[in-house]
Amino acid sequence: MMADPLRGSTGLEGTEHVEIYLDGQWVPPEAARVSVFDHGLLYGDGIFEGIRIYGRRIFRLDAHLDRLWASARALALTIPLDREAMAAVVREAVRRNRQEDGYIRLVVTRGAGSLGIDPASCPTATVFCVVTDIHVYPRELYANGIRAITSATRQVSHEAFDPRVKSLNYLKNVLAKIDARQAGADEAILLNTAGYVAECSADNIFVVRTGRLLTPSPQDGGLEGITRGAILELAAEAAIPAAEARLTRYDLFTADECFVCGTGAELMPVTTIDGRTIGDGRPGPLTRRLTTAFHALARHEGEPVW
Ligand SMILES: Cc1ncc(COP(=O)(O)O)c(C=O)c1O
Repeated sequence: MMADPLRGSTGLEGTEHVEIYLDGQWVPPEAARVSVFDHGLLYGDGIFEGIRIYGRRIFRLDAHLDRLWASARALALTIPLDREAMAAVVREAVRRNRQEDGYIRLVVTRGAGSLGIDPASCPTATVFCVVTDIHVYPRELYANGIRAITSATRQVSHEAFDPRVKSLNYLKNVLAKIDARQAGADEAILLNTAGYVAECSADNIFVVRTGRLLTPSPQDGGLEGITRGAILELAAEAAIPAAEARLTRYDLFTADECFVCGTGAELMPVTTIDGRTIGDGRPGPLTRRLTTAFHALARHEGEPVW
């Protein structure tokens, strides 16, 4: 289907037949336009989900809809479809686009209103759903691991805005990614304002220390990632000890293994952080084992939608 929109192009070049859901209509990419008065654009006032398709199956749609509705509640945003109708839109988007494997971007913005910030001027939220191919990182990085840095850009404090809301405000993440690129690295780790590890620019993070899997608690400032949740379940099934823990840069540098995880990147080994080699500099055994288990789960869980 579409070519690789997460890597710079519009992603819509050379597409044959792409249908995008936009406010009750199915439209081709060139007609999928939102208003310049949309508060999602003007103020980042909106929420989204990124969801994977594996072998015609939608990975954990229920969990994504739970998080979407939680984000909406936190922002007092009324989603103009009920949950079943939204689930039906997502399934229909995959079916119409004949997407075998890929990515779904589901977005709800406050909608079009006046130029002022008050959401009361936006009578109806805008909803759209795009289905596309996805390749966040080149394949060889999954075998060799990525270079990460800890970014000077800090995670926003929950006292200002709870980072568990998956909102359209991604500027701190964008800045962290710029920090990573400027340092010649692939990914940026964000610390919170107290200096504890929170998450990455678009992923959660795990370390392994003496056979134990450790990941920051969402209280330390990270999204409650669906991939992270699946990994914790897989660890429990495989009797791999796992816990939420408060981590500093020291814990990253001295870890036996480290990986990041998210819907886009899936599980990605991290082999250097701030120039320090992690473990022996190769993706570690627990990372590889969990990667295999994650792919087996994703390929078999749920029913194909077409
Ligand atoms: C900031 C951030 N943290 C973590 C994640 C991972 O969450 P999930 O596994 O639900 O994709 C994402 C989204 O992919 C994200 O944008």
